[in-house]
Amino acid sequence: MVATVNENFDLIQNNYLFVEIARRVDEFQKQNPDVDLIKMGIGDVTRPLSKTVVKAFKDAVDEMGNADTFRGYGPEQGYDFLIEKIIENDYEPLGVELKNSEVFISDGAKCDTGNFQELFSQDNIIAVTDPVYPVYVDSNVMAGRSGKPQEDGFYENIVYLPATAENDFIPELPKEDVDIIYLCYPNNPTGTTLTYDQLKQWVDYAKENDALILFDAAYEAFIKSDDVPHSIYEIEGAKDVAIEFKSYSKVAGFTGTRCAYCVVPEEVTIKNSKGEDVQLTPLWNRRQSTKFNGVSYPVQKAAEAIYTPEGKKEIQEDLDYYVKNAQLIRQSLEDLGLDVYGGVDSPYIWVKTPNGIDSWEFFDILLNDANVVSTPGAGFGPSGEGYIRLTAFNTYEKTKEAMERIAQLEF
Ligand code: MLT
Repeated sequence: MVATVNENFDLIQNNYLFVEIARRVDEFQKQNPDVDLIKMGIGDVTRPLSKTVVKAFKDAVDEMGNADTFRGYGPEQGYDFLIEKIIENDYEPLGVELKNSEVFISDGAKCDTGNFQELFSQDNIIAVTDPVYPVYVDSNVMAGRSGKPQEDGFYENIVYLPATAENDFIPELPKEDVDIIYLCYPNNPTGTTLTYDQLKQWVDYAKENDALILFDAAYEAFIKSDDVPHSIYEIEGAKDVAIEFKSYSKVAGFTGTRCAYCVVPEEVTIKNSKGEDVQLTPLWNRRQSTKFNGVSYPVQKAAEAIYTPEGKKEIQEDLDYYVKNAQLIRQSLEDLGLDVYGGVDSPYIWVKTPNGIDSWEFFDILLNDANVVSTPGAGFGPSGEGYIRLTAFNTYEKTKEAMERIAQLEF
């Protein structure tokens, strides 16, 4: 007997996008060791953890080193002290009531959005907006739900909903009969948003068509506009049809610390093989308690500190810092005559490549001639072709320098 590979892995098109970019950047740096690259590619933060968070983190590590306060395995779903803070601070002010058992702490929205599809049967049809965060597509390819890749870059069994400048980045509701819809707002990668009314159309669609929405709200903390919802549960009826994913990565500098959560309301049901309604909450709980042992106690204490008055203030300062970078990027590129989207309620700026240059070529121009790392739009799906994404997560000084370097380029 010989172990054989999961044949769905043959269907994966390339390296994971950010791994491919890191590979190209490493290669460039090996050949150009003296070049000072400015990284605005992967959405990785540069501001350190806030003082209040670090103190809570260290205190919790000390507790772990003391026999009287040491803790072993925690609850797989997360400690109530953090879940309660989430409900009180992230949902109650929006008028959304949740039970502790509906909130699941995890080590990342990438893991949660990648893992959640395990609860669905193989023949479910998924829909994604295009361009899209690659995890939603790749995790469904690995699970055997995508069909084969086509020459145009689309998988045969996935429904793609284009979001481009032509439709103001508002994807149309699916015409096909779909079962699961991935939405991410503020959007990764385009940085665009949906208003309350626009998101309501998706919730209404899901209710009318028995579809489930997987709503990734990892960038919610960047919302400044009044007409943009902070949670899908602000929309009437959404608790019947939507799962929401949130993350501390970009909000509080947790990309390396790892903490996130998802909300699985008890109202959400899907059909079992007998055609009966089953709740997703216990299914997700079952999945998590089998495959996950929870986030470490010190990390959850660090996350809890985000909700203290000092923590909130410090984190807001970091968010404001990134927002200022986003404004600088938008303004500088607009001044160069480029078409620029996003970057208002989001740390991502989506830029149309000049003169119809393709997105990997523009990525190379920025890398080689401006020594700035971007993310090529095509890496996020066929409708991302002709765009690149920049992030606002570098320092203000480097962001400014990157804009000056780009201004020197001749397109
Ligand atoms: C991105 O750059 O799109 C994000 O950093 C990816 C992630 O959060 O996994």
